[in-house]
Amino acid sequence: MEDVKQNTLNEEKILNFLGIYQDFDWELSIFDEIESTNDYLLNFANVDKFNICLAECQTKGRGRNLKEWQSPKYENIYMSLGFSTENELNRFNAFSLVTALAVHDVLAIEDINTEIKWPNDIYLNNKKVGGILLETITKDEKTLIVVGIGLNIYMKDNSKIDREWTSLALEIEDFNLDRNKIISKLANEILFSKKEFEKEGFDRFAKKFNSLNYLKNKEVSLTNFDCEKGTALDINLDGTLNVKVGERIKKISSGEVSLYLTD
Ligand code: BTN
Repeated sequence: MEDVKQNTLNEEKILNFLGIYQDFDWELSIFDEIESTNDYLLNFANVDKFNICLAECQTKGRGRNLKEWQSPKYENIYMSLGFSTENELNRFNAFSLVTALAVHDVLAIEDINTEIKWPNDIYLNNKKVGGILLETITKDEKTLIVVGIGLNIYMKDNSKIDREWTSLALEIEDFNLDRNKIISKLANEILFSKKEFEKEGFDRFAKKFNSLNYLKNKEVSLTNFDCEKGTALDINLDGTLNVKVGERIKKISSGEVSLYLTD
């Protein structure tokens, strides 16, 4: 716990690490404990700013598909970013994939090589190390995007998680990265990606996503289609995943199905 304490969330450090973006219109809120950082921004984000909400722990952390997100104190990153966009809401769904790429890129700078399990799970050495939850709401006549990132950093045991998981500290010897630094880099990268995404859509990111596509050529089953089995292929420009079922290629959209690896 000593190591962890040295890295408690620290506003000054985070702003310092933001470097040239320090003076950007950030609205940074840090909590010792909160129900969910996504919920906080859905309720209280300032639509005219780029909001960051962080917490040392969450009591009602939410994952995709109504799952609970385990959020023990000091151990991980629980971070949400909230901003408005002029872009069409539907189009922004693929931004969760773009956020996953941003997480990959920030960790790659530290020589941590993750893959992305479509649509937005971050994988390290075949285990889930993080996930993204994108939610949208209309507020003050503007479209607000809230993108939540859960990234396991120091967590070493947690019997409440019902799937294979890992953390950076479990995978990397002598791991000692300051969470504040990772958070600032993520905020920068996501801000940059948002601007690119608004200009060019997912096209600009699709090739890179495909190069990190954990599911590619793996056997999967489609839970919304009577558990049909198929082979995952590439991601399309609209963010859907191609799955070869028999001789047919099905385009799967993340809202429609969950995919389970068959082995
Ligand atoms: C998933 O893989 O199911 C997505 C997990 C997203 C968890 C993060 S933690 C910060 C933010 N607040 C939440 O309640 N959820 C997201």
